[in-house]
Formats: sequence, C-alpha cells, structure tokens
Amino acid sequence: MYTTLKKKILLGITGGIAAYKSAELVRLLIKAGFEVRVVMTPSAREFVQPLTYQALSGHRVYTDTFDGEASSAMDHIELARWADLMLIAPASSNSLAKLASGYADNLLLTLCLACKKAVAVAPAMNQQMWANPATNENIAQLKRQQKLIWGPDSGEQACGDVGLGRMLEPAAIVALVKTHFEPGKLIGKTVLITAGPTREAIDPVRYISNKSSGKMGYALAWAASQAGASVTLISGPVCLAVPEQVTRIDVSSATEMRAAVIKNVNQADIFIACAAVADYRVANVSDQKIKKTAKTMQLNLSRNPDIVSEVTHLDNKPFTIGFAAETESLAEHAQAKLERKNLDMIAANLVGDDRGFDKEYNELLVLWSGGEKKLALASKDDIARQLIDLIVNCYIFKNKT
Ligand code: PMT
Repeated sequence: MYTTLKKKILLGITGGIAAYKSAELVRLLIKAGFEVRVVMTPSAREFVQPLTYQALSGHRVYTDTFDGEASSAMDHIELARWADLMLIAPASSNSLAKLASGYADNLLLTLCLACKKAVAVAPAMNQQMWANPATNENIAQLKRQQKLIWGPDSGEQACGDVGLGRMLEPAAIVALVKTHFEPGKLIGKTVLITAGPTREAIDPVRYISNKSSGKMGYALAWAASQAGASVTLISGPVCLAVPEQVTRIDVSSATEMRAAVIKNVNQADIFIACAAVADYRVANVSDQKIKKTAKTMQLNLSRNPDIVSEVTHLDNKPFTIGFAAETESLAEHAQAKLERKNLDMIAANLVGDDRGFDKEYNELLVLWSGGEKKLALASKDDIARQLIDLIVNCYIFKNKT
C-alpha cells in the first residue's frame, strides 16, 4: 500500500548522538515504500556527515536556508509543501524548545513553521534533560500545537545514564509513520472517556479530592481521536487543553460525572473509565464555611455511585475498559476488579511513590478475559496509543464472535 501511495517524509535531523540511528531510519523508511528527503540542523552535521543520508536517500541533503545551490532544488516553501509528514528524529531538547516557541533560525525550524501537514518529533536527550520542567513545558506547548510526540524510550543512554530520553528505535518510528497514514481503526465509532479527579465538597470553600492530573485520560482521548473515533471526554477539574476534535464536558463531583456518563453512554461504542472517582462524598455538605471551633472534627461520608459498574450493567452496555490504581498486589486487585465490575478489560497501574498520578509517563498491566499484556514504561501518549490498539483488537474480536 505504501509503495503505491509513496507518501513523502521530510526527515529533520538535529544535533544529538542518536543522529547515527537516523541513517537506519532513512533506510527503513525507504524500504517501507516512503519517499524521503533529509534536512539537517548545523549541529546535526557535527555528528554525522550529510553524505551519509544523501547516499541512503538518493537525494541531496538540505542544510542551509541561504544555500546558493538551492535554485537547482526546492526552496524551503516548496519543500514544506512537498512533505506529507515532517518527522524530526532525533529531536534535541534545544530544537524542541525552539520549535515550541516558533523560532526559525535554521532551515529545519523554518520548514516546520511553513509546513501545513503533521509534524512529528522523536525526542532524544539525557534523562535529566527530559525530566527537566522546562522540557516538560516545551512538550506540553508542542502538544497544544498538535505536534505528534513519538517517544522517548527508556533504557541505557549514550552517556551511561539509565531512564527515559532515548530516541525510539528506527523500526518503532517507521511503525508509527505507517500507522499515521493508515485509515483510523475507530472511524465511525464513538468513544466516551472519563478523566481527572472528582471534587467532593465539604463546604463552599473546601473539598476532598485526589492527585489525578487527567494526563492519562486526555492522552487516551487524543489517541482515540487519532484513530478516527468521535470522542467525548468527561473531565474532572484539571489544567489541560482539550485535544483537537474532542468534545469535553466539564464536571466536578462524582455525582455530576455519573450524570454526564449516563446521559452520553447510549451513543458510545466504547467506554473508558480513566477518572479517579472519589469513592465517598461528604454526607452533609455545609452551606456556610465551617468555623474552626472544636479541636477535632469528623466528616460523615456516604458511598458514591460506582459509575463504571453502573455502565456495565446496562442492557446495551458499550465495550467497557476500567482502570485500577493500586499501591500493592497489582495483578490480584486488577483481576478482582475486572470480575467484580463486569468489565471487558482493565488497565492497572501502580500509584504512589512517584508513580502514576500526575507523571508524564506510565506503565500498565492490561487484563481481559483470555489475555493479558504489559505496556512497558513510556510517555502517557505512547501508552495511550498502545492501549487504544489493544482495545481496538479486543473490541473487533468480541464483535466478530
Ligand atoms: O490523571 P493522571 O495524573 O494522568 O493519573 C492517571 C491515573 C493514575 C488516575 C489513571 O491511570 C487511573 O488509574 N485511573 C483510575 C483511578 C481509580 O479511581 O482507580 P480505582 O481502582 O479506584 O477505580 C477502579 C475503576 O472504577 C476506575 O475505572 C474508576 O474510574 C472506576 N470508578 C471508581 C469509583 C467510582 N465511584 N466510580 C467509578 O467508575
């Protein structure tokens, strides 16, 4: 399919040791039937000579905005128009920062600004640099600009450190490029997702809540939308931008979340319950701010409705995926929840001790009747993409049998 379509990939290479892997990336992309042109930043040339990519791609390598030879080739606007996808691999922290801020001080960045098609980046840097709040903020900004963030991978790094920051392997990047051009597997399907925490009021100024940031649920909404689904996201209070083409319904308490789910679930083919819903609410919410008169104070709590269980007991229940947030015995608790809540699938994650909640990355143990799969530590976007693939396969299988 790719041979006949000959999709055009403009591969940007920035300065980083992973630039040597991009030679293999060029080879694999061409082998998969893509047309490839390469653009390098000045610092990328410190790592690998343009001639390497020229020999592999069969085309001259673009390096300079003011290249005298450019009249014989495409200028930067033409080149940006030529591409079906711009892929920056490796994407250094410096280039990501500049891209996020709209800099155009080299040819590659200028092309990114001029490109109307999708721009994907495969970050590659030291794990401390990846963990730096400034990098986090740049990645968040790139996501808001609808850039595709592919990776990074975790493992041993060129500098000897171990952690998240390695560029994805070339074969994994080629697989993502292929998926990018595949027609969405969820076209025509409606997916309902809950995300974030709920807030249970104590009085007009105080509430009980939890540490959920919404990042996992929002990543799932994005991945389902990328797969072609029409997505409704029922969100507790979080500070995240809604992914493009996703409809968000804002709620605060578990009771409000339940009402929004019940109102929308009839239209859903798939329901993913990722929200960290409070199990209890305050029985008697005070109308006025509670005064600190006594030394101790007791709150009476009532059980909240179990939203996902209510959905799985509907006559026309959608294919339903629950989450399990556990601090111990992950597999056992997840299996028990899968059965107790009558779920089609459960995605279990360890939380606490700097894991799960409000992190950029996650790892999941996914269970369903007749199967299980571990999704290794990766960015929440990558995990979401993999989980959506798994859901699609199980959903299609269930509907065939
Ligand atoms: O938001 P992030 O910061 O990115 O963090 C992601 C996450 C850790 C919140 C997410 O990955 C996750 O684990 N979400 C589920 C959290 C949770 O409430 O787990 P639980 O084991 O308590 O609940 C089991 C399932 O029942 C969940 O699908 C939950 O949505 C659902 N539930 C729980 C209580 C309730 N009253 N109604 C429900 O529907």
